[in-house]
Amino acid sequence: MVDKASFAARYGSWALVAGASEGIGATYAEEIAARGLNLVLVARRAELLQSLASELSAKYNIETRNVALDLDTTDAVERISQNTSELEIGLLVYNAAFSAIGPFLERPLEDHIKEINTNAFTPLRLIYLFARQMFTRGRGGIVLMSSLSAFQGSAYISTYAATKAFNIVLAEGLWEEWRERGVDVLVCVSGAVKTPNYVASQPEQTGGLGDMTINPDQVVKEALNALGKGPYVIPGRVNRISSFVMRHLLPRKLAVKFMGEILRKMYVK
Ligand SMILES: NC(=O)c1ccc[n+]([C@@H]2O[C@H](COP(=O)([O-])OP(=O)(O)OC[C@H]3O[C@@H](n4cnc5c(N)ncnc54)[C@H](OP(=O)(O)O)[C@@H]3O)[C@@H](O)[C@H]2O)c1
Repeated sequence: MVDKASFAARYGSWALVAGASEGIGATYAEEIAARGLNLVLVARRAELLQSLASELSAKYNIETRNVALDLDTTDAVERISQNTSELEIGLLVYNAAFSAIGPFLERPLEDHIKEINTNAFTPLRLIYLFARQMFTRGRGGIVLMSSLSAFQGSAYISTYAATKAFNIVLAEGLWEEWRERGVDVLVCVSGAVKTPNYVASQPEQTGGLGDMTINPDQVVKEALNALGKGPYVIPGRVNRISSFVMRHLLPRKLAVKFMGEILRKMYVK
C-alpha cells in the first residue's frame, strides 16, 4: 500500500515526465497523479498531451502543464526551463527514448546520433537543471528508464543499448553521490513492455523464449515503489531471474552472443 502523503511530501509538488504522451510515460503520469503530484507533461504530440492532461486533472484534481517539443534538439532543455521556471519540480522522470533497430551500417549516422541526444544528452542536461533545485530544497527524486539490453552489448540495437548503459551507470553513481542529500536517483531496467512503440517495432518472435512482455502498469508501480530504496530496479520476476543468469552465470562473451541471437530472430528478417 503506497503512502501517498509521504510520496507527495518527498517528491512534490510537481513532477515532470519527459516522454509522457503514451506507453510507459503516460502510465507514469497517471500513477504520479494518483499519488497527488501536479504534472508537467513533455512529448512531441501536443494533442495527446492535452487529452491526457485533461483526463488526469479531472480524475485526480491536480494541476497540469504541457510542453510540446522534441527532446532531440539543442534548445529542448532551455525551453523546458523557461516553461517551468516558477514551479517546484520535485520529481523528474525521463522516459522518452529513440531506438534505431537494425544492422548498424544500414541506419544513417544521424539515427545513431539521435539516440545519443534523446537517450543520454538530454536527460543529462535535465538532471543538471533540476537536481540543483532539489538540493536547495533538500529533497527530490529522479527516475531514468533503461533496458535489459544495456547489461551487455546488444546486436542490432547497439547504440540504443549503449545509451541505456549510460543511464544505468549515471544513475548508480548519482544515487551514491546524492543519497545522503535527500535526492533519490533510480534507474528502471526494463525488459520488453507492451507499449505502442514496442508493438510498432514488430518483433517477429522473442527468440523462442515465449512471451516475456509485461505491462506498463507493472513497470511504473515497481519503479515508483523502488524509488528511495536503492539505485536500480528490474520490474518482473522473470526479468530479474533472466538478467541474473545473463550477468552472473554466463560468461560475458556468451551473454553477448545469446542476446544477439534473440535480437536477430526478432528483428533481422
Ligand atoms: N517498450 C519496451 O519494450 C521497453 C523495454 C525496455 C525499456 N524501455 C524504455 O522505456 C521507455 C518508454 O518506452 P516506450 O516503449 O513507452 O516508448 P518510447 O517510444 O520510447 O517513448 C514513448 C514516449 O516518449 C516520447 N518521445 C519519444 N521521442 C521523443 C522526442 N524526441 N521528444 C519528445 N518526446 C519523445 C513519445 O511521445 P511523442 O511521440 O509524442 O513525442 C512517447 O510519449 C524508453 O526509455 C525505453 O527505452 C522500453
